Amino acid sequence: MTAHTLPTQLPRLRENVVRSASELIGSTPLLELIRTGTGTRLLLKLEQFNPTGSAKVRMAREMVLQAERSGELRPGGHIVEPTSGNTGTGLALMALERGYTFTAVVDDHAAKDKLRAMKAMGAQLVSVDSGATGGPSTVERRRIAAEIAARTGAYRPDQHNNPHNNAGYHALAAELLSDLTTDVDFLVGAVGTGGSLCGTVEELRRLGSRVYALGVEPTGSIIFGGVGGSYWQTGAGSPAGFPVGGNVKYDAIDEDCRVRDIDAFATARVVARRTGILVGGTGGAAIQVALRRLVHLPASSTVVVLVCDAGEKYLDTVYDDDWLRERGLYDEAAQQRITRLCRAYDESVRLAAVERAGA
Ligand SMILES: Cc1ncc(COP(=O)(O)O)c(C=O)c1O
Repeated sequence: MTAHTLPTQLPRLRENVVRSASELIGSTPLLELIRTGTGTRLLLKLEQFNPTGSAKVRMAREMVLQAERSGELRPGGHIVEPTSGNTGTGLALMALERGYTFTAVVDDHAAKDKLRAMKAMGAQLVSVDSGATGGPSTVERRRIAAEIAARTGAYRPDQHNNPHNNAGYHALAAELLSDLTTDVDFLVGAVGTGGSLCGTVEELRRLGSRVYALGVEPTGSIIFGGVGGSYWQTGAGSPAGFPVGGNVKYDAIDEDCRVRDIDAFATARVVARRTGILVGGTGGAAIQVALRRLVHLPASSTVVVLVCDAGEKYLDTVYDDDWLRERGLYDEAAQQRITRLCRAYDESVRLAAVERAGA
């Protein structure tokens, strides 16, 4: 059969078609959430537009490709990793594309939809009991994964210490600089392994940026030395007793912040109503930090928040009123405070325009 070109088609040298989902990683969009009267902008880097719906697929690809280069992963091999879900869906994608089996060690703190997504992609799930608190059992997940790797000879990427986690975000830094006509003055991101924030910041600086980095963890997480306690934000933070890995580059982070679940989730819900984009709970936490900061920043600052994943993964938690109420996390007043803050910024733009017109 000969190829038939429609009369309306333009000649192309190459079709715009990919042959594997991992080729769709990256080039995620920037959405302006807020602009202030001083010309400062809060932009969201929407990493949910990656395949698997999360930033973490960037580093899953990098770690797997590096393990192939180093010979740690051989054809038909086995990967095992403890995960709260987003690393797991990234590894599940890479495993199915490249012919590996993948075992994810998870707990019931993980979002149900992430577990379902990993299963849908053919991953094997090993579940660890979260214990009475229902909090993340990061230490136990890690112990079980190490035990499986020792017993089966599986490759364990070790996302907390593997430098290719952070390197997986170098392209993200380049995307930011190529999508903007300014520097990234402030970068805000939730910190779990540290890979996304630290990897992006280090590459931005290598490319000449003078970015100021703010790392955000849930209140109750101990990464930046706070008091340990329970929290419901998944993916970010480390519970008490967990040894923080080498990928949290404390030197690269200028300032650390803690956000309560109530404020993180209230912010995510307000953003959903304002934009129609649902961000995950850790995205909500990072946006909360940025929103509070904007008013104090020099005029015309560019603030970028890394949004790790989408709210669609949390419809039965962060976006479910009953789930929040059962845990004392539903707070109408917190949502109103954030809504008022956003409106005040909107109003500042209007006033600045009036002032300019009168000048
Ligand atoms: C939803 C979510 N937010 C934030 C993070 C933290 O990202 P990183 O591990 O790159 O610090 C993760 C990591 O798994 C995550 O799943």
